[in-house]
Amino acid sequence: SPKLFIFDLDGVITDTAEYHYLAWKKLAEELDVSFDRQFNEQLKGISRMESLELILAKNRSLSLSDHEKEKLANDKNEYYKQLIESINGENTLPGIEKLIKEIKENNIKIALGSASKNANMVLDKLGLTEYFDYIVDAAKVKKGKPDPETFTTAADAFSIHYSDCIGIEDAVAGVEAINKASMFSVGVGSTEHLAEADYVVNDTSGLQFEELVRQYSNWKK
Ligand code: G6P
Ligand code: MG
Repeated sequence: SPKLFIFDLDGVITDTAEYHYLAWKKLAEELDVSFDRQFNEQLKGISRMESLELILAKNRSLSLSDHEKEKLANDKNEYYKQLIESINGENTLPGIEKLIKEIKENNIKIALGSASKNANMVLDKLGLTEYFDYIVDAAKVKKGKPDPETFTTAADAFSIHYSDCIGIEDAVAGVEAINKASMFSVGVGSTEHLAEADYVVNDTSGLQFEELVRQYSNWKK
């Protein structure tokens, strides 16, 4: 059986992916950049500054100094923080807490693998911090997703072989990172976006412990 589960945060543990989307949309509209859910798929899993650069690239008449870019990234983060201010345990997505408890009961380690600088705060608000044996956030890695470093850093913290790990992601960049780490990748979302994942569920209620272990075991042999 697997030795480590690595969870993405935004869009897997909680629906903050929606709040990132709304905050970027507000900023993009202020910059006269069109912004929709299709474009937003590219922003999932990647860092705040990289996301801003992708948005700015859509309006070629904008050429901004580093200082101006930092201000915009900060504005987005303020919008985001307002949106998540009142989240609590009820914002944990369906099936996640049950899954986490079953992983613990089976003596399997749990890590977080997030690109967000707000990861610790969000996990605290949800009341889930105590379940996590290790947290990888934006501060712990040099290269963000789709580079595998977020996931390999978590496995390395326990000296666990990468092929003994399961990574769970809602982002295309995240699934790519898990696959590059040679771990078993679980996608949460549409098979259309997440075709590269080893196993896909529509939403988090489809993340059933025994089925995940079964799928993982098939992949491993
Ligand atoms: C995650 C989310 C992205 C977000 C990034 C940075 O990867 O999927 O949508 O942009 O974290 O988050 P931050 O909270 O640091 O701006
Ligand atoms: Mg995500």
